[in-house]
Amino acid sequence: MRVLVTGGAGYVGGVSADALVAAGHDVIVLDDLSTGHAAVPSPEARLVRGSYADQAATRALLERERVDAILHCAARSLVGESMADPAKYYRENVVGGVALLEAAREAGVRRIVFSSTAATYGVPEATPITEDAPLRPINPYGESKRTFEGALRWYGAAYGFRSVILRYFNVAGATDRLGEVHRPETHLIPNVLLAAEGGPALTLFGEDYPTPDGTPIRDYIHVADLADAHVAALVATDPADARTGPVGGGVGAEPLIANLGTSSGFSVKQVLQAAEAVVGAPIPHTAGPRRPGDPPVLVASNARAREVLGWAPRRSTLPEMIGSAWAWRRAHPDGYGD
Ligand SMILES: NC(=O)c1ccc[n+]([C@@H]2O[C@H](COP(=O)([O-])OP(=O)(O)OC[C@H]3O[C@@H](n4cnc5c(N)ncnc54)[C@H](O)[C@@H]3O)[C@@H](O)[C@H]2O)c1
Repeated sequence: MRVLVTGGAGYVGGVSADALVAAGHDVIVLDDLSTGHAAVPSPEARLVRGSYADQAATRALLERERVDAILHCAARSLVGESMADPAKYYRENVVGGVALLEAAREAGVRRIVFSSTAATYGVPEATPITEDAPLRPINPYGESKRTFEGALRWYGAAYGFRSVILRYFNVAGATDRLGEVHRPETHLIPNVLLAAEGGPALTLFGEDYPTPDGTPIRDYIHVADLADAHVAALVATDPADARTGPVGGGVGAEPLIANLGTSSGFSVKQVLQAAEAVVGAPIPHTAGPRRPGDPPVLVASNARAREVLGWAPRRSTLPEMIGSAWAWRRAHPDGYGD
């Protein structure tokens, strides 16, 4: 199958593009390099530099390359930035996202897998979180993802789009080839490792949460496990596959929605301790205040991904996620050199 991966020069898109190539698919990456790196896509995954929000150019690309399916990983994804500049999140993730859907509709591409997020749930009433929990995002980032999920649903109803919505929890780890480089970096594990390398000390935002050690608990998933789920999800968008709509195609298709996590969680202090074991030294850290909107516990139920996608996390232990991230940083002290 020929697959267009938007955001394939980024962290998740890059590792997912590699997994698709390894599974025998033909991959084209569409990335504007706004937060990605030109060195991420492999030579087997051709990089086309541009924005998915450019409807005419995206349509032309889909038609020219005879694309069968889209993996839509590209997005603006910083919670704090979304609070300060909500318009950017509506413009890029929502308006830009609809431009991508229209380009796909015009080009006759009706198979799409979407990178959604646990941020669509907001502060959950119950944990582990199942896919039918209410969606009450507490920031424009989560709201923009929820809105695009809704657009996918209505494109299924109106035009027969077959889609899989994957709600990721906390993505972590590295492959031999690709690691996590965000600027700014807001994720815990890279910031713990940065502190271990002599960067700024890690701040623990709140130590008085109702959790066993007082720090918030999150569900971490290895980026390579996440990539496996994307390969499985693409198969499910086949018009002959009942998991994403009527067999044989046609309107009235409903997205298949699946959380991607391990169904277990680790506290910030547990991550710090595991990282100290990996690097073999204490890691400097300081106490800070709680951050508004940080729930005490965010843990996925991954039962649906297991049952419906036939997926299971295989590498998502703390030593494996932190160890692989650390090994990649040791081997690439300048990141991607950009
Ligand atoms: N990393 C996580 O823990 C996590 C958790 C939940 C959801 N997600 C979602 O997964 C996706 C990927 O996240 P990531 O961590 O890999 O981010 P990333 O910033 O590393 O990758 C995003 C990529 O999209 C590209 N991009 C952005 N806007 C574009 C546009 N208009 N046109 C073309 N390319 C564009 C960027 O250049 C970058 O290469 C995002 O949609 C994010 O919301 C990530």
